[in-house]
Order: sequence, then structure tokens, then C-alpha cells
Amino acid sequence: MSMNDITSRADIELLVKEFYAKVRKNETLGYIFDDIIKIDWDHHIPILVDFWETILLDTGSYTRNAMAEHFKVNQKIKLEPLHFATWLNLFDSTVNSYFKGSKADLAKKRAHSIAQILELRMQQFNKPSR
Ligand code: HEM
Repeated sequence: MSMNDITSRADIELLVKEFYAKVRKNETLGYIFDDIIKIDWDHHIPILVDFWETILLDTGSYTRNAMAEHFKVNQKIKLEPLHFATWLNLFDSTVNSYFKGSKADLAKKRAHSIAQILELRMQQFNKPSR
């Protein structure tokens, strides 16, 4: 079967839903969302779709502050390098199982650069050198 690139909000909805289904089943990450943050998925999924739609299709539908949200998460559970590595592995493998092309590549590239920034900022917060 030949794979298509990411071209629509429906594509991003598929990607986001499949990705978070894997996250929830993952032993390193699942409990953070379901037991610690107790996320309301019906509320959260459209926000994540807006986020990726803004990155990949330039819609501007995401106007929130993802960094601030992760600082709040990090107050309840320290976000460590293993969490980020696991997140990225699941994200890349989800993208690769459904899509192929320049937007698919961009999604993975942006996920890695954002994860790197988040990881660095959480690390700076958790281990201040002062
Ligand atoms: C250590 C890995 C990560 C963990 C454990 C994690 C966990 C979470 C949790 C629990 C929330 C929900 C916060 C809330 O609504 O109370 C959240 C929100 C979010 N996460 Fe992550 N995250 C991780 C990495 C990432 C990365 C790498 C990205 C982007 C590339 C990302 C994008 C987002 C976005 C866009 C939101 C929504 C923020 C908003 O409400 O506007 N996350 N994350």
C-alpha cells in the first residue's frame, strides 16, 4: 500500500488519536496522562489537533502556551529524558505507520526540536545550578 502525506485536519486527527492511544498504553507515559493529570481526552484531543494543524498546515488555530502547560505537568511529575525519548519514539512510529512525505518529515522534525526545548527547560527548572 502506498502512503500519503499529511494534507488535512482529518489526517491530523487520525495521527493525534492513534498517537495518544499508544501513549495511554505505554508504561512510561500512560499513567502521567490518565492517573496523575487525569486528562479529559475529549477536551484535549481537539487542542492537540489545533497544535499540529498550526505547525503543519499553518492555520493558526493553536494560540495557547504549550511550554506553560508542561511546566504545570512538571510540578506534579518531573518530566525526565526517558519520558521525552519514549514520547518521540511513539510519535515517530505513529507518523511512519500512516504517512510519508514532506509534511510527515516536518512533523517528526518539529516534534524533536520542541521536545529538545521542553526537555532542556524542565531540566533547568528541576536542577537549577544556583
Ligand atoms: C515527556 C514528554 C511529554 C509528556 C509526559 C507530556 C504530557 C502532557 C500532558 C499531561 C499534557 C496535558 C496538560 C493539561 O492539560 O493539564 C500535555 C499537553 C500538551 N502537550 Fe505534552 N507532553 C510531553 C511532550 C510533548 C511534546 C514533545 C509536545 C510537542 C511536540 C507536546 C505537546 C503538547 C501540547 C500541544 C499540549 C496541549 C497544551 C495546551 O493545553 O495548550 N507534548 N502534555
